[in-house]
Amino acid sequence: MLPGIAIRTKLRHMLIARTLPDLRAASARLRRHADALAFVPTMGALHAGHRALVRAGIASGAATVASIFVNPLQFAPTEDLARYPRDEAGDLAVLEAEGCALAWLPDVATMYPVGEATTITVAGPAEQWEGDARPGHFRGVATVCAKLFGQVRPDRAYFGEKDWQQLQVVRRMTADLLLPLEIIGVETVRETDGLAMSSRNRFLSATERAVAPALIEALRTAAARLAAGEAAAGVLAMARAALGTRGFDVDYLALVDPATLMPLGNLVPGARLIAAAMLSHVRLLDNIRAI
Ligand code: PAF
Repeated sequence: MLPGIAIRTKLRHMLIARTLPDLRAASARLRRHADALAFVPTMGALHAGHRALVRAGIASGAATVASIFVNPLQFAPTEDLARYPRDEAGDLAVLEAEGCALAWLPDVATMYPVGEATTITVAGPAEQWEGDARPGHFRGVATVCAKLFGQVRPDRAYFGEKDWQQLQVVRRMTADLLLPLEIIGVETVRETDGLAMSSRNRFLSATERAVAPALIEALRTAAARLAAGEAAAGVLAMARAALGTRGFDVDYLALVDPATLMPLGNLVPGARLIAAAMLSHVRLLDNIRAI
């Protein structure tokens, strides 16, 4: 039995905390049983990608804590905060079934107390791409993650590689603020046809859902062409055009440095192909290692 599961077995049920005093008491209880705390921050609407993060935490031997908080600060006024899917009972059942030790469900007043006046300004990997498309988004992500890290005080936190830029922004912020935890990226979980798991996939119509895997196909084809030695500019243009013919409105499809997200003219080890495209009203993101 994995040590992370043994801790949950001792507790019998997943603990649930909704206030900071409850979180502190629950964390203290976990620390008595476990050498390390793993943390999976989420906004709920949990799917197989989140399950993989919880499993990675448990597999590391840590007692695993997951948070559910739909963070208003990372949504622009024009974005889908109200439309963001919410299913607390379903999410708690998923976390319980996966062997999570503690669910942290703060409310907005806890995360953003009256009079709050501090946010985290992010640059570097937060610039360009999603940073351009969603001004203020990564400021919201970095701020809420720093607060959650301060509350949960984990030894490591797990983020999906699906949101590659977010993972790099959180890594950078954690290093820059000297926060005492490790940030771990977990490989993207995909449907059998390759579509990356995302809470937003549920908004695709049946026709759009059938077309959606063309995004990862375009990235895989681009990676193969780059590996065969074709010039990056032509490969990227071809991939964008291929998606255009399938009905995508491509926001960006680029070859970038994996840590800084700066565009690359040539293939280098670890380079990442990243893409965002609208399919009707749904914004799809994906990325793969180019080599
Ligand atoms: O990826 C997400 O679900 C969110 O951006 C995160 C990391 C939970 C912060 O709100």
